[in-house]
Amino acid sequence: MKIGIISDTHDQRIKILEAIDIFNERKVELVIHCGDWVAPFTAARFSTLMCPIKGVFGNNDGDKVRHRERNDFIEYYDDKMELEIGGRKLVATHGHISGMAEDLVRSGKYDAVFSGHNHIAHLKIEGKTLWLNPGTLVDETNDKTKGMSIAIYDTENNNAEIIKLG
Ligand code: NI
Repeated sequence: MKIGIISDTHDQRIKILEAIDIFNERKVELVIHCGDWVAPFTAARFSTLMCPIKGVFGNNDGDKVRHRERNDFIEYYDDKMELEIGGRKLVATHGHISGMAEDLVRSGKYDAVFSGHNHIAHLKIEGKTLWLNPGTLVDETNDKTKGMSIAIYDTENNNAEIIKLG
């Protein structure tokens, strides 16, 4: 099963639509958002996804009550979301809580850990755990960021592909 992974969309409305097009074309069956959606009314744009979406809050998602009220099609979690899909143990967290993502990776309890926050896409394997940061939809955060990206994770092979956005 293919799962779209996205993070730090930070109100980038046009890029969100681009990401949705890719996820719909690639027929992902779920999208996981690793936080920093920012405004509830921009998160509402995810309603054109052809699959369910769930995710965690980040450090820039202040109005959690309004997020939940406005976007009842999104399944929001607070700091951590654990899932078991296709025989894989998965967990998502934003990454702003010091050491939390690293601890989840090192715990050895998960097939894959998804996190964001630093806007730098990465795909690493530590032990049996895949650690994926899909990057951001913000074009320029700082010198270290390498453009905009999303990712598609596959439960079949416990691997992922990072997809650059133009
Ligand atoms: Ni953040």
